[in-house]
Amino acid sequence: MRILVLNGPNLNRLGTRQPDVYGTDTLDDIHAALQNAAGDDVEIDGRQTNHEGDLVGWLHEAADTGSPVILNAGALTHTSVALHDAIAIVIETGTPVVEVHLSNPHRREAFRQVNFVASAVTGSVTGFGLGSYLAALTAIQHAARPGRR
Ligand code: DQA
Repeated sequence: MRILVLNGPNLNRLGTRQPDVYGTDTLDDIHAALQNAAGDDVEIDGRQTNHEGDLVGWLHEAADTGSPVILNAGALTHTSVALHDAIAIVIETGTPVVEVHLSNPHRREAFRQVNFVASAVTGSVTGFGLGSYLAALTAIQHAARPGRR
């Protein structure tokens, strides 16, 4: 199985970006920890982009290939109807999409309380740094079981 780990705007700056909020793990650290936890039978395909259309295209790829998705859409979480709709296309195929955030946006500024992703995804994990991604991996292993929606 291959799992797409899709990261949006500014997440290439992890490690040095607001470490008090996002911690000091880099995106490479996160992808390596996921691969380590997932084992040899799972390929962790970690990607990052600062462009909304790339994320939409990668979600279409997930719909076509059936690869489960761990998605940190970054700030696009709070703005993008296009991402909401692309996630819905993946979910329609029966493929899980788990939303993750390093921080817990609900504890932060009012503009982060708006979320266009949460109502489309299978489920969300927020507030645990690298642990949000690891919990999402576990969640995907459960979501992939028959009988889950
Ligand atoms: C984030 C939370 C978003 O509000 C923010 O815009 C990010 C990172 C997180 O992982 O905590 O870029 O998605």
